[in-house]
Amino acid sequence: MSDAAPGRIDPEEFRRLGHRMVDWIADYHRQVGELPVLSRSGPGDLLRALPEAPPEQGCGEAGWDEVLADLDALIVPGLTHWQSPQFHAYFPCNASTPGILGELLSAGLGIQGMLWATSPAATELEQRTLDWLAQLTNLPDRFRAPDGGGVIQGTASEATLVAMVAARHRVAGGRDADLVAYTSTQAHSSIVKAARIAGICDEVDGTTRNGRRTVRFVPTDDNLRLDPAALRAAIAEDIEAGRTPFFVCATVGTTSSGAVDPLPEIGAVLADTGFRDAGGWLHVDAAWAGSATVCPEHQGLLAGLEHADSYTFNPHKWLLTNFDCSAFWTSDPEHLTAALGVTPEYLRNRATDAGGVVDFRDWQIPLGRRFRALKLWFVLRHFGAEGLRAHIRHHVALGEQFENLVRQEPMFELAAARSLSLVCFRLSGPRERANAEGRALLDALNAEGQIYLSHTTLPDPVDQAPRFVLRMAIGAAATTADDISQAWDRIRALAAQIRRAGTEPTA
Ligand SMILES: Cc1ncc(COP(=O)(O)O)c(C=O)c1O
Repeated sequence: MSDAAPGRIDPEEFRRLGHRMVDWIADYHRQVGELPVLSRSGPGDLLRALPEAPPEQGCGEAGWDEVLADLDALIVPGLTHWQSPQFHAYFPCNASTPGILGELLSAGLGIQGMLWATSPAATELEQRTLDWLAQLTNLPDRFRAPDGGGVIQGTASEATLVAMVAARHRVAGGRDADLVAYTSTQAHSSIVKAARIAGICDEVDGTTRNGRRTVRFVPTDDNLRLDPAALRAAIAEDIEAGRTPFFVCATVGTTSSGAVDPLPEIGAVLADTGFRDAGGWLHVDAAWAGSATVCPEHQGLLAGLEHADSYTFNPHKWLLTNFDCSAFWTSDPEHLTAALGVTPEYLRNRATDAGGVVDFRDWQIPLGRRFRALKLWFVLRHFGAEGLRAHIRHHVALGEQFENLVRQEPMFELAAARSLSLVCFRLSGPRERANAEGRALLDALNAEGQIYLSHTTLPDPVDQAPRFVLRMAIGAAATTADDISQAWDRIRALAAQIRRAGTEPTA
């Protein structure tokens, strides 16, 4: 019987195939701008092309020509190219050379860092890199050791969920309480999703099955920022009715328009309504905009963050760190780990028992965890603070460029103030017509597939009715001023065609 392990890595085979893969990725990035940014695939196209049964015999190294040919022929056409310079649809999802190499290394090492003891370097590199990020973005001291601390979550959605369960633990402990959470009408859908997962509410409108409102969507002001007076009234009403306000999620950079909730005023409301005294928790979600605060000129976005108990932003969106990497800090790790920690016998070990080490399994939903700090470390070392600032400033300048183009064209108007590199715009004129034209424009643009934008609706300041709004979310690492000019020329030409067709209908 052979004693060779069938699944082992043959280092030379890995070297050969690895070099081919790296070449493939390099070529992909060289030509990604020439591919149609939005996949042209229809539903089921790939499913029909793939065999229904798994391969019985492996192809081994010799079969990799075929694997790579299938990658080109079957997989690439089914991709929407998030790294394309003409991807402006959702908030970005930056890849970079150090980010990709960090992912490769993490896979190559194949470690799992659930406990400090299962790879001390994984935990300590994460602590150090998150502390570097806290310094770069000038976070309040309360989020840094020894009182607070940072951890990498998979997504901002997970960050909100863990913050919410920590808040519940702090406010209610084991006792029954009629808990209520608050966020703005413009907050991300992940907030109410977290509340549903945590069992705070059942429905997406923030109610329970028996009709109690346990997540309140607080109205916003004309700039789409959470209205502190409305928050104050909602909390006071709930306290008066015997309910227990326990969690507020404020947003720095909302998904629809990039609005920034007023943290100083929110902090004051929480202090004087009794929310704070009862242990209530403020979480701040800056999933996208937080990356910009590596630049001192954007750190004002976080004014008032000292009122928060937890804060998150996603380096995997706009800070050149490949998905997934959501940075999360809390000033109260004690309640977080009390809410999430479970220690069965098989996870006990000397280092944990002796104290003095952090086991990140207690800071997150899953037990197991990837070595994500490597890619963040590589990114921070490769670009340095200066390189990261240049990256953000480049995109903010492109946002200004696009904003000016919109302002100069009477056919269009801004639908909200530009936020960093996000420009929300719409066709000008009566609402119904402009909404219909906006939809037609987005459909026409995305049908061409060369430039990818997405939309939202924002309330009309006059009567709150929805206005259809195009979102130009600039942030792909490769986007240049030329790409923005080209995108604008195409948007304008299509809008003119749509407008002409609308006023002079053709058969
Ligand atoms: C403000 C905000 N919060 C949360 C999220 C969700 O992010 P994630 O995919 O990391 O859960 C987004 C996504 O765009 C967002 O814009």
